[in-house]
Amino acid sequence: MFANKTLLITGGTGTFGNAVLRRFLATEINEIRVFSRDEKKQDDMRKEFANPKLRFYIGDVRTESSLRDAMAGVDYVFHAAALKQVPSCEFFPVEALRTNALGTENVLNEAIHADVERVIVLSTDKAVYPINAMGISKAMMEKIAIAKSRVAGTKPTICVTRYGNVMASRGSVIPLFINQIQTGKPLTVTDPAMTRFMMSIDDAVNLVLYAFQNGQPGDTFVQKAASATIDTVARAVKKLLKAEAPVNVIGTRHGEKLYETLLTREELISAQDLGGYFRVGADNRDLNYALYFSEGKQDVSRREDYNSHNVPLADVNAMCDLLVKLDCMQKAMRGEKIEV
Ligand SMILES: NC(=O)c1ccc[n+]([C@@H]2O[C@H](COP(=O)([O-])OP(=O)(O)OC[C@H]3O[C@@H](n4cnc5c(N)ncnc54)[C@H](OP(=O)(O)O)[C@@H]3O)[C@@H](O)[C@H]2O)c1
Repeated sequence: MFANKTLLITGGTGTFGNAVLRRFLATEINEIRVFSRDEKKQDDMRKEFANPKLRFYIGDVRTESSLRDAMAGVDYVFHAAALKQVPSCEFFPVEALRTNALGTENVLNEAIHADVERVIVLSTDKAVYPINAMGISKAMMEKIAIAKSRVAGTKPTICVTRYGNVMASRGSVIPLFINQIQTGKPLTVTDPAMTRFMMSIDDAVNLVLYAFQNGQPGDTFVQKAASATIDTVARAVKKLLKAEAPVNVIGTRHGEKLYETLLTREELISAQDLGGYFRVGADNRDLNYALYFSEGKQDVSRREDYNSHNVPLADVNAMCDLLVKLDCMQKAMRGEKIEV
């Protein structure tokens, strides 16, 4: 599917970009373009990968003209560029809107203009029933992608993927707990009962590839994921590192939820269960408002959403099994220092 094709990854220097690159450089792909703002991260990657299939484009998704050059001759796009930190988006919501929502509109306009075949837009569980500016901007991003898919049809086919916290990604709780144990500090837990979906970066790449291979215009894909309480995560990290560190409960932070939701009950009612994944098709009724507002679905209010509180929760042993697969955990178990 990728033989002789050109792939553009917006935000290609990020966690997802690096993971997907490693996967694709081993295929018969012709070229991978990395599009992002910071030249230092690009230069580091250029040296690290030293691969002639890789091309680097400095640009900003907020500026259509910088995307135009990068998009020329591209077959597929993975749109991963985003502002994703909850506090910075909360303080600068218009910046989140510009990058996450309007930047996505630019990416899609340029993909349509350049006759791209497929675009996968990466979203997050924080976009579902959002309570913070980051989630709201990503929810708008999803709406923009689905609206554009109606106009674009199959040129390009535009799909959305949503995933939850990537275990051990930058700034996340697992490296923090490890570092706190290593530096003799108590583990800071917001609310022990808080739950989060637990996905690995490989799961995130698999989800995007699944959407890429199976998506119809306007589809949203979600992977069924394990979930655990933060208390379980803390206990599992302590168990693996044979540590007795105390836990300091600091309370829920601004913009944080008790649990995250991957599919709303409104979506779940029409979602297709594909085993490991859910597919939610776009609402492709015409713009006759009566269809949306005069006729409803009676069973919506009786359904539950798909959230990290109501899926089976991992216990400490199951969490240990997930943790031991992580690089940072393996390093910590070998006695190497983990920075946050
Ligand atoms: N990590 C998670 O836990 C998680 C969970 C669910 C969903 N996601 C979604 O997955 C996607 C990728 O996340 P990630 O973890 O790879 O993020 P990341 O590591 O923070 O990378 C973000 C990338 O976007 C680029 N970027 C930011 N603003 C940009 C702009 N205006 N124009 C062009 N590039 C820009 C960054 O490079 P520069 O700063 O150099 O521009 C970087 O390459 C995001 O859409 C995110 O919302 C992530």
